[in-house]
Amino acid sequence: MSQSLDAHQRPPIHLRNVYKKFQKLRGHDLQSDSDIIDLTRPASVNQLHVKRSLDSTITQPLFQTFLGADAEQSTPPSASVPVYEHPSMPGLHAIPSLFPPDVQKLLLSRLIHRDLSDQAHKTNVHMHYEVPYPSGHSFFSIAPSSEPVFLPKDPTVHKPLSINQFLGRKLRWVTLGGQYDWTEKLYPSTPPPPFPPDIGELLQGLYPEMRAEAAIVNFYTPGDTLSMHRDVSEECERGLVSISIGCDGIFVIGRNDESETDSSTVLAFRLRSGDAVYMSGESRFAWHGVPQVIPGTCPEWLKEWPARSANEEAEEPSPRYEQWRGWMQTKRINVNVRQMRE
Ligand code: OGA
Ligand code: MN
Repeated sequence: MSQSLDAHQRPPIHLRNVYKKFQKLRGHDLQSDSDIIDLTRPASVNQLHVKRSLDSTITQPLFQTFLGADAEQSTPPSASVPVYEHPSMPGLHAIPSLFPPDVQKLLLSRLIHRDLSDQAHKTNVHMHYEVPYPSGHSFFSIAPSSEPVFLPKDPTVHKPLSINQFLGRKLRWVTLGGQYDWTEKLYPSTPPPPFPPDIGELLQGLYPEMRAEAAIVNFYTPGDTLSMHRDVSEECERGLVSISIGCDGIFVIGRNDESETDSSTVLAFRLRSGDAVYMSGESRFAWHGVPQVIPGTCPEWLKEWPARSANEEAEEPSPRYEQWRGWMQTKRINVNVRQMRE
């Protein structure tokens, strides 16, 4: 199926219009728009049905294994969590607050301090710049005030970038495992670096129907968007897992029916830190995008990241990244995980 869909095709006009509407919504209109499905509001949840529930006997051991030695402060045992589906979007499964705060924080550290600083994992910045890896260290070990260290491949076109610009707005994605080429919209034929095993085990434990083979980690600052697209470069129809961390985002998804008109189904969700979305079945190849990331919505316990918050002082001797305190306050990170082939 995916092979017959063109990754370069333009989205239908009515979806582009809905996307534009949510891109422009601000303030009170954004908070009160009843078209936005907010998984924390009963009025929204009432429109959904509980497809299944994910029991804590499955989630807790996975979280404990992932946290490993970091588990002392321990995740409070959560009850089973509901998996929601909208009647007009079969296969799209949303789980609000699936990931507890300590799991989200450790996931961020693994993704950013460890995986982003692994040269095998390409970023959007690699296309035009030589990326200076701080050998074996996080990019956050570089002082924000340091001189520009990213040199352009073509100095007649691009100016050197500072670490502040790189971690500020220039870094838009890093790929793990299969190195998807967002520009060419394909997976290269050369063997990919191994998918980070700890993250793979966590996600496959939650979603045993898919193998975690490739991830796109998206970095958004309010004002950044992800335009409407379909993820059709995978050569199988396995589900896709999408995890949100940081600021809230509006996620728009429309059904893929070629005969559809203006009245066809489009849904908008407000996704929060810790939410998981699974795109499978009829929704797997649906048009979707992120028209807005909402400023001022990063959860309190995450705002100081990558610096440690007051109650984390015990964890010496891990690096403190004091100079980058508050970086996460203006970020939304999305981890978008796929199986490439059957
Ligand atoms: C993607 C994607 C959605 C999001 O990376 O392909 O659709 O919520 N991300 O950021
Ligand atoms: Mn996508």
